[in-house]
Amino acid sequence: MIVYLNGRFLPREEARISPEDRGFLFADAIYEVVRYGAGRPYRLAEHLARMRDGLTALRLPVEPSFFPEVAGRLVAENDLEESDALVYVQVSRGAAPRYHAFPPEGTPPTVFAFARKTDPPPPPGGGRAILLPDERWGRCDIKTVMLLPNVLASQQAREAGAMEAILVRDEIAWEGTKANLFTVSTGVVRTAPRGPRILPGVTRAAALEAAAKLGYPIEERPVAVDELFSSDEVFLASTTLWTYSLVEVHGRPVGGGRPGPVAARIREVLQAEFGG
Ligand code: PDD
Repeated sequence: MIVYLNGRFLPREEARISPEDRGFLFADAIYEVVRYGAGRPYRLAEHLARMRDGLTALRLPVEPSFFPEVAGRLVAENDLEESDALVYVQVSRGAAPRYHAFPPEGTPPTVFAFARKTDPPPPPGGGRAILLPDERWGRCDIKTVMLLPNVLASQQAREAGAMEAILVRDEIAWEGTKANLFTVSTGVVRTAPRGPRILPGVTRAAALEAAAKLGYPIEERPVAVDELFSSDEVFLASTTLWTYSLVEVHGRPVGGGRPGPVAARIREVLQAEFGG
């Protein structure tokens, strides 16, 4: 595997980062995950805009315009041009002696990127999720690598035989650990509004556009946990999943225990946009 690190393309085994990197010491870093099919990115402009917002929020003086060329070359060098692939990129505030406040001006950021094939899609019968308290910080809209609550919740889901954990705060089911959350009730497509409690997913925005195009009314408002069980459908949306139906939440069936048609129709629209 050829990876990108600070301006160079090199074998993964040769890529080295300082133990004083602030990404390692403080999670002082942002990341992005972009899908590539047949060498072409899905909604790259949206990913770059979100990366720019994250860099600005962290006051990291890096322009995301470096990314398209780096990603294209990673896809090519790793023979992924014919594959469905993901490109991961992370930018940290660089390496410096450990002081909490920013390192001296001119400390170069660490920029790391790799490409790999997407994982096979999960089984078509739909997935199970558990409910867990949302213990994340107050700025979930910034895509930082500070993912420990997501990691621990993800692991708890795995140990419970579930594919995702839905994070709950103030009785609201905000999103999953790595995907946005949608419900469908009598044809109305609902998802939490943009704001500090959720990541503004690129797939979330695409799914809302698709739903509107398909003629479904949309409501961007917090979804109460109880509503999950009275909805016709519950589904996840992310770069890695497109849309994916949940059929069980915390041991109780949702959506009649079967994947619903709205999630499937939206997924078809997204995949057609990607493929076309
Ligand atoms: N996760 N919410 C969270 C907390 C996420 O981590 C993600 C993405 C999403 C969906 O965003 P998008 O549609 O832009 O992928 C929502 C990525 C894929 C990850 O961490 O690997």
